[in-house]
Amino acid sequence: MARGVADRRHPARHPTFVTMADAGPQARTVVLRGWQDGQAEFHTDKQSAKVVELEAEPRAALHVWVPKQKLQIRLNCLVELVHSDPQRWDRVPEAARGVYGGSHAPGAVLDRPEDFEEAPDQARFTAVLARVQTADLLHLGDDRHRRAVYHRSDSAWLGQWLAP
Ligand SMILES: Cc1cc2nc3c(=O)[nH]c(=O)nc-3n(C[C@H](O)[C@H](O)[C@H](O)COP(=O)(O)O)c2cc1C
Repeated sequence: MARGVADRRHPARHPTFVTMADAGPQARTVVLRGWQDGQAEFHTDKQSAKVVELEAEPRAALHVWVPKQKLQIRLNCLVELVHSDPQRWDRVPEAARGVYGGSHAPGAVLDRPEDFEEAPDQARFTAVLARVQTADLLHLGDDRHRRAVYHRSDSAWLGQWLAP
C-alpha cells in the first residue's frame, strides 16, 4: 500500500473503496494519498455520496489487485472524516484543487455536462482516514494459492492462514 502512495504507476495508487448505502454497497476508485500504521488516506468532496454514507456507517473496505505479485489485498476499515483541514489543503497543488467544490454537488443531475463549473473550495475538502481492522490477502502462487487474514489488536497484527 505504501508503494501506491510513492509510485503513481503502482496498482495500489488506485484502490477501490467500498461503502454501504441504503441502496446497497457502493464501489469507486480513489487515489491513495497516504499510508501509515495500517491507515489509508484519500481525499474527497464533502458533498459526495460517500461522505453521507460514511457518516451513517463508518465501516468500509478497500480493494487492490497487484497483478505482478499476483496478490489480492482486501482491507476492512473503520473510517474517520476530517473536514476542511488547512494543513492538508495547503499541500494540495493549486491545479488539483478544482475537484473539491464546484457549482453542483457530485452526483447532482445536469442538463448538460458543460453546466458544471469547477470552484476550488476548502470547505468542501474532506480527508478520509481509513484505519484497517482486518486484512485478507490472497496470493495466487504458481505452486498453490495462499490466503492469510490479519486482525489488528492492541499490540500487533494477529494473522492466520485460511483456505483460499
Ligand atoms: C482514477 C480515478 C481516481 C479517482 N480518485 C478519486 C479520489 O481520490 N477521491 C474521490 O472522491 N473520487 C475519486 N474518483 C472519482 C470516484 O471514483 C467517484 O466517481 C466519485 O468520488 C463520486 O463517488 P460517490 O458519488 O460514490 O461519492 C476517482 C476516479 C477515478 C477514475
